[in-house]
Amino acid sequence: MDGDFAFHDLAPGQENFRDAVIAGLDGNPRSLPCKFFYDARGSELFEEICDTPEYYLTRTELAILDEFADAIAAEIGPHARLVELGSGASRKVRLLLQALKQPAAYVPVDISREHLREAAGLLAADFPDLPVIAVCADYTRPFRLPPMPGPTGKRVGFFPGSTIGNFEPEAVVRFLRNCAELLGPGGEMLIGADLKKESELLDAAYNDRAGKNAAFNLNMLERINRELSGDLDIDQFEHLAFYNEDERRMELYIRSLADQTATIAGRSFRFERGERIHTENSYKYPQDEFCRLAGRAGFSPVHSWTDKNELFCVYYFRQG
Ligand code: AVJ
Repeated sequence: MDGDFAFHDLAPGQENFRDAVIAGLDGNPRSLPCKFFYDARGSELFEEICDTPEYYLTRTELAILDEFADAIAAEIGPHARLVELGSGASRKVRLLLQALKQPAAYVPVDISREHLREAAGLLAADFPDLPVIAVCADYTRPFRLPPMPGPTGKRVGFFPGSTIGNFEPEAVVRFLRNCAELLGPGGEMLIGADLKKESELLDAAYNDRAGKNAAFNLNMLERINRELSGDLDIDQFEHLAFYNEDERRMELYIRSLADQTATIAGRSFRFERGERIHTENSYKYPQDEFCRLAGRAGFSPVHSWTDKNELFCVYYFRQG
């Protein structure tokens, strides 16, 4: 049974996807923005990646949130209004919500409309006393929060999953400044981010043996075919992911296996054999470096929690 929740749709229209795809494929080098991974199918495939043995991120972050839920809840305090950016299946936030004292509202924000609707309904059913106000939006652009219940209590942004690693370092600073603006004075941030580590573990996490990362990456092309009347031959492309030591980031590409031509939204594109389309960066920061970036956006670290192998870190920041 689904619980009650409010739903605000601020998501950009289809022309936004078409224009971004065409601009990205016209670019040199070619690229496609990673936020477009998350159509209904892509969101599903991402959940499947999280369950692969190689993808340590989700499991490790969940374990940190579970172990330190009470300490995190104490930091947040009572009557908080929790805004989650990129809420996906809203799985991690449950650990927080269970530990929080009388949370005043939960605001999941996600670009994947139907996935968000479903997750909000399930969560509202499990937390019947909690107002759930879902916002479908592209949070990489500034947007406004709907009115939230609760006269007091902090506004806390929750940004788990190392999604922040998708931004360029300079974009992290801009993004966090937007978060401060969105949450208002006194707003605080709880952020989960992957830590820098040796490349073997990283390469394995993004090249799982079951091929979930590959399916997730290539779903971008399937989505283009579905939504933009494309005729890309998916079998003629492959998934490529590797750690770039100099940039300290995972890089994902789709690589063409042949010289080929495809039509997308009425436009013709030629791909050469071996040519790559850049689909994602996933930065891996040492703790001090991540805190330095946050500092440039006006946030100072209050606390951070890691697992015993120091694979992943959850940071709590306040303004000032
Ligand atoms: C959701 C952005 C954190 O970078 O690890 C997983 C997405 N891409 N496999 C990540 C992803 C390929 C993921 N983030």
